Amino acid sequence: MIDLYSDTKTKPTPGMREAIANAEVGDAQKDEDPTVLKLERMVADLVGKEAAVFLPSGTMCNQIALKTHTNHGETVIADRLSHVLISEAGGPGLLSGVLFRQLEGNAGRYSAEQVEEAIQPGSRYQSPTTLLWAEQTNVYGGGVIWPLEQLQAVRATAQKHGLKAHLDGARLLNASVATGVPAADYAEGFDSTWLCLTKGLGCPVGAVLAGSAEFIDRARGYQHRIGGAMRQAGIIAAAGVYALENHVERLAEDHQNARMLAAGLAEIAGITVLNDPPDSNMVLFRVDETGKSVSEFLEATDEQGVKMCDFRAGQIRAVTHIDVTSDDIERALDVVETVANGR
Ligand SMILES: Cc1ncc(COP(=O)(O)O)c(C=O)c1O
Repeated sequence: MIDLYSDTKTKPTPGMREAIANAEVGDAQKDEDPTVLKLERMVADLVGKEAAVFLPSGTMCNQIALKTHTNHGETVIADRLSHVLISEAGGPGLLSGVLFRQLEGNAGRYSAEQVEEAIQPGSRYQSPTTLLWAEQTNVYGGGVIWPLEQLQAVRATAQKHGLKAHLDGARLLNASVATGVPAADYAEGFDSTWLCLTKGLGCPVGAVLAGSAEFIDRARGYQHRIGGAMRQAGIIAAAGVYALENHVERLAEDHQNARMLAAGLAEIAGITVLNDPPDSNMVLFRVDETGKSVSEFLEATDEQGVKMCDFRAGQIRAVTHIDVTSDDIERALDVVETVANGR
């Protein structure tokens, strides 16, 4: 099976499994796990923040950041294509009691003018806007990368009005490798950001939230309250340390494979590629002109050993990652062509 469904589908490599087996561990809840401490330091340094906390998932990073930055009844500005709005099961309402002002951006990226217009200072009648939310890369936009200047402009506008800012960095390293802009530059001025270990980096578990020492201290309080404080977590943190040392530069291969896939798909009759060339590791396309529905199409590719995602609004998404080679892309293109031709 060539699994292009998501970059979350990766399996640990032999080198990563060896690092996991040999991990030094301690009680992470008591800050005694050397591997967790090492991972937290590495991520804090990489994204240019004072401190970091290792958490079980990206969703927990987002939810704890939201909870730490806001009070109930406040408003958060985010693009309508944000993961926190679409795929986190209403966590913001449940845990933080916040409202969202959803901006209609360009594939997940909005402008400083839109922010300026959306901010409400708060009054007897108005909920105050207190947090700006951005996602680099934006997943529902198709792994699109915010240009550094645009990200800086929205963040500066937020800062001017006294808002905090959070950067969902599930795939921040994809953006950084694709553009050569350091992750710390993208994260500069944001009060918090995080990296996912289970996506392009290929780890089995975890994400790391970073910010000021004071922010992380308060975030650790919420981590504990919601049951996210772990014990000998060095076992899984070791995979993160290994990935940061071995799997970052190779993200360029995933981007190259995504470009190869998009270019190949664009040649197939009936396929409409929506982002050729893709910014990072995701290709979005439509199959309307093949005469097949998305579900019929995906059932047929699945039967021939290629898994892809019924994404949203009639789009199919294919994602490249560490377990997909350029030979796999060639094979996937053959399968798509066969299915598109009705064979
Ligand atoms: C942009 C973005 N943010 C947050 C998450 C949540 O991460 P997790 O699946 O580790 O909870 C994802 C997961 O796909 C994501 O793509």
